[in-house]
Amino acid sequence: MKYFLETFGCQMNKNDSELMELSMEAEGFNRTSVRDEADVVIVNTCSVREAAESKAFTHIREARGRRRKAFIVIAGCMAQRTAETHIKNGIADIAVGPYETPVVGRIVKQHLLNRKAGPMLHLTQERDQFAPRLTDGLVAMRKEDSWHRFVTITHGCENYCTYCIVPHVRGKLISFSSSEILDHIRKLADQGVLAVTLLGQNVNQYGQDNGEIPFHRLLEQAAQIQGLKRLSFLTSHPKDFNPELVRVIRDNPVISRGIHLPLQSGSDAILKKMNRKYTIAHYMQIIDSLKKELGSDCSITTDLIVGFPGETEEDYQATLDAVRNVGFNEAFTYAYSPREGTAACSFPDSVPDEVKSERLAGLVSLQREFVISRLREMIGSRQRVIIERRSSRNQNDFFGKTHNDISAIVRGNDMLPGTIADIIVTDVKGAALFGNAVTPDK
Ligand code: SAM
Ligand code: SF4
Ligand code: F3S
Repeated sequence: MKYFLETFGCQMNKNDSELMELSMEAEGFNRTSVRDEADVVIVNTCSVREAAESKAFTHIREARGRRRKAFIVIAGCMAQRTAETHIKNGIADIAVGPYETPVVGRIVKQHLLNRKAGPMLHLTQERDQFAPRLTDGLVAMRKEDSWHRFVTITHGCENYCTYCIVPHVRGKLISFSSSEILDHIRKLADQGVLAVTLLGQNVNQYGQDNGEIPFHRLLEQAAQIQGLKRLSFLTSHPKDFNPELVRVIRDNPVISRGIHLPLQSGSDAILKKMNRKYTIAHYMQIIDSLKKELGSDCSITTDLIVGFPGETEEDYQATLDAVRNVGFNEAFTYAYSPREGTAACSFPDSVPDEVKSERLAGLVSLQREFVISRLREMIGSRQRVIIERRSSRNQNDFFGKTHNDISAIVRGNDMLPGTIADIIVTDVKGAALFGNAVTPDK
């Protein structure tokens, strides 16, 4: 039987989809890239903003409409939140929440063998039902971009930022065993993986649920693994980003100098309402220590939300000031999207949609100006780039990222994904550096 798998949402969801793929194949299903010829359609969904949910929902409904007999699985975060309704409406046949996505193959097979088999909602959040993630199947998986792999180190989140649905759908913080994580990375490196990104909703809280070593120790030990050329981590929370972590990054050159540190808002009043548990002054202290310890090499990226309930023009201006003061290399910017079940959903003083759109446009254009002027300062510098793929714009160019996570277009002879190239930056194109490959330094 053939299955079609589509994924929405963050890297952690994409990582879960790899586990789903392994699980389906272990049960004898073959993947197809043509949805309409699949016997089983699985949509791994995201709930973070309304737009993400409606997109996934449209895809599920279309799949049902085109092929009534296909067995339709709604999986992931939106399954956890709203699946009951979709099952009742007959839009999907079963729902599999984030705890059980890695065993989706077994669940689907049981249902196909006996269509009346057991419950249709597989949405447990019981710890003993949490399916293991760091499997050898994942190590052996070969992908086009196998020079780089994501390694999930925690699942869930208990921070309850008031706008965020993640704690409600992913459940409590679960830190995986440090020895299993390190062993998993060692196996990846042994088979040629050059770059690893550690993943968690707040990696800095690693170990706080089960007495494991703290995150900076895990990172330090991962940085010693032979064969790795780049080690990154996502996502950090400013309230838990400690000075030991800054020192570990400084002392281990293999750790990427691109740090993603979501600020969300530049206004203390809004940060408080968001339950972020830090102030802009604290955030700036972290930025100063990163710049001091890592030097001009370090680049900071962030997430920002505009139009949170009660956000005044002054609060918004404070976010613009933060963009000016920090000099982010990239900002992922969002208009606040109310999520039912979260605290902020019932906060008063919602910001009208047209104001949200105006503020978002203003923020995006300010950030763009800053990025271009920052990148221009890098013209003439030498940068090491790991090539990811051929450029989509020009077949003679290659796309990659610098050690501080800046996009770069490299002109050179045929370069396979994973090639390490040194460039002298000659220009800035869009939000990327441009340069010719030169003979790499040792
Ligand atoms: N755990 C990470 C953190 O704490 O920054 C990322 C969580 S979320 C998957 C990614 C980003 O989506 C957040 O940093 C936030 O900027 C944005 N986001 C989350 N909920 C949102 C909402 N209701 N409306 C708009 N943006 C939202
Ligand atoms: Fe959501 Fe906050 Fe947890 Fe990030 S830290 S996943 S924004 S609740
Ligand atoms: Fe990720 Fe979306 Fe779930 S951002 S954790 S897939 S709600």
